[in-house]
Amino acid sequence: MNPHNDKSIQQIIAANRLRKTFGSFTAVDDISFSVMPGECFGILGPNGAGKTTAIRMLYGFSPMTDGTLQIFGLDVKSNLRSIKARIGVCQQENNLDPDLTVFQNMEIFAGYFNLSRTIARKRAETLLSFIALNHRRNDKVIDLSGGMMRRLVLARALINNPDLLILDEPTTGLDPQSRHQVWQRLEELKKNGLTILITTHYMDEASRLCDRLIIMDKGRILVEGSPLQLVKKHLGRDVIEVTEPAPEVIKFLDRMDLEYENLGHRLIIYGDNCDKLYHTISDKCGHDGCILRMATLEDVFLKLTGRDLRE
Ligand SMILES: Nc1ncnc2c1ncn2[C@@H]1O[C@H](COP(=O)(O)OP(=O)(O)O)[C@@H](O)[C@H]1O
Ligand SMILES: [Mg+2]
Repeated sequence: MNPHNDKSIQQIIAANRLRKTFGSFTAVDDISFSVMPGECFGILGPNGAGKTTAIRMLYGFSPMTDGTLQIFGLDVKSNLRSIKARIGVCQQENNLDPDLTVFQNMEIFAGYFNLSRTIARKRAETLLSFIALNHRRNDKVIDLSGGMMRRLVLARALINNPDLLILDEPTTGLDPQSRHQVWQRLEELKKNGLTILITTHYMDEASRLCDRLIIMDKGRILVEGSPLQLVKKHLGRDVIEVTEPAPEVIKFLDRMDLEYENLGHRLIIYGDNCDKLYHTISDKCGHDGCILRMATLEDVFLKLTGRDLRE
């Protein structure tokens, strides 16, 4: 029986108390999580949270300091080669060869997986069509836009027909059109049953793509859940934002014992069914400076990781 189809393998990734230290600095501090087949799992966190360090251990780029890690039900320490053959990786940087053509980049990468020339060329063509780059196949990578390069890195990561795709900030620095292009492709892959692990600090990306996610900060996991669950659990459904709040509004919120963040020039109030509250507050401060909107994952992220600048 083909072990790839073994239904008894429940978890695609089972990470238990993973740690990574660099000298006396702990970049990943005892994190545990699992990823199920067909799931898109997100690792979110501000810069320096330890996302890249965590996933580098998963695809064998950097050895773990401590913990246990199984991928496809196999221990990473003793089965790294066979695991790597079944993983596709988009690293944070576009590590393409700029002087080679689009097609050559695909072919050379296929070489790492010992694919026959015929299969490599066939897959390269299919994948270049998939990411809408076949018309640029003979152009040098150096002549591509940032969005095209990112799509090429994605196509290249799929050349071995992986069972798990790992993406490190796949759309950082891209224009809105390119981001949406990448998201569409990832959604198609997900629909076809591919398991995806993605790191991002874009909350719209995570809300759109991730079934479940963890938010990390300073090497640790702060919370885990689906985007909706996390919003419900940590904030409630609604957010009221008040710009340039009058002292009267703050007094009112304190008196009512309501949960809010005071950013000085702006108040952010969290709650459920805030319609009535919104009217009360906007009556106090004038309707222009007050809005009612749905709470988002970005609100959760900022509440949990704070608003201070990172690295
Ligand atoms: N090779 C390394 N040596 C020393 N420190 C490192 C190394 N790689 C990463 N770090 C540190 O580990 C922390 C986590 O980094 P990283 O995993 O890249 O964060 P993220 O991907 O979440 O932005 C950072 O403080 C970073 O400076
Ligand atoms: Mg990173």
